[in-house]
Amino acid sequence: MIKVENLFYSYTKDDNYAVKDVSFQVEKGEVFGFLGPSGAGKSTTQGILTGLLPMQKGSATVAGYDMKKPPREMFNRIGVSFEQSNVYNKLTALENLEFYKKLFDVPTLDSMDLLRLAGIDHVANKRASTFSKGMKHRLTFVRSMLNNPEVWFLDEPTTGLDPAIASQIKDVIKDKHKEGKTIFLTTHNMFIADELCDRVGFIIDGVLKLVDSPRNLKLQYGEKFVDVEYKLNGETRKETLSIIKEEDKHKLNHIINNYEIELMHTKEATLEEIFIKVTGRGLV
Ligand SMILES: Nc1ncnc2c1ncn2[C@@H]1O[C@H](COP(=O)(O)OP(=O)(O)O)[C@@H](O)[C@H]1O
Ligand SMILES: [Mg+2]
Repeated sequence: MIKVENLFYSYTKDDNYAVKDVSFQVEKGEVFGFLGPSGAGKSTTQGILTGLLPMQKGSATVAGYDMKKPPREMFNRIGVSFEQSNVYNKLTALENLEFYKKLFDVPTLDSMDLLRLAGIDHVANKRASTFSKGMKHRLTFVRSMLNNPEVWFLDEPTTGLDPAIASQIKDVIKDKHKEGKTIFLTTHNMFIADELCDRVGFIIDGVLKLVDSPRNLKLQYGEKFVDVEYKLNGETRKETLSIIKEEDKHKLNHIINNYEIELMHTKEATLEEIFIKVTGRGLV
């Protein structure tokens, strides 16, 4: 659904690149995440793939359309939620959606249903100027769903939202995934990437370092250890044991068979730890 080959972008039109030789593909029905810290080139990539920024060097197709010259009809098939909400302050939430609907030549979803999905239906008739940043962000988010897009671009969809609202937004994304939509999501939040994405790409300084599923990454980079806490003569003992070394495996078996286990968990690496291993930098 999305194919990117050797993409470069420079805001200064020189060899100072915000996006540098980036190539990847997103299959139909896949949630693909761009994970990287602020300034990595995520929003720039989304900008090029949604026709907001011109294609300078390299190539990209989105839903079969060549992004060198995206035709108007493409915008009927994609949805774009921006990092910075850009709603009309003078219009109410409902009017914002109704106004936007007119831009599409395809059937659109019900505006009130969408406001409900984002938990802002109670302010449907209030002007956006009275909204908090988070509420505007949610309005931008559901506005991107109006045309029920086949390819959905989400730039930092949950950033700045409180946990309950973020979880609601994540559920909406999961539902769209189940419906078979293709989703390109950018985030600097490893939990979002881990929870929502089929595959993630690590991006730093405009360079895409690797692409894989969160599970594969954890298997490849995770430490093969288990932490176990157990009771011995009324005292809690703690051990960290390898789950590969024979000696440790025997020890673990012995503990399980003879003592009362209080706590046991594998020490799998988080995406952030893996990110640091791969890129040498953190996510903030
Ligand atoms: N409009 C702009 N003009 C000039 N430089 C920009 C502009 N937008 C972003 N940049 C620069 O491009 C790089 C990538 O930015 P961006 O794509 O916004 O990163 P991310 O979304 O990963 O935080 C950064 O160095 C940023 O400062
Ligand atoms: Mg960004």
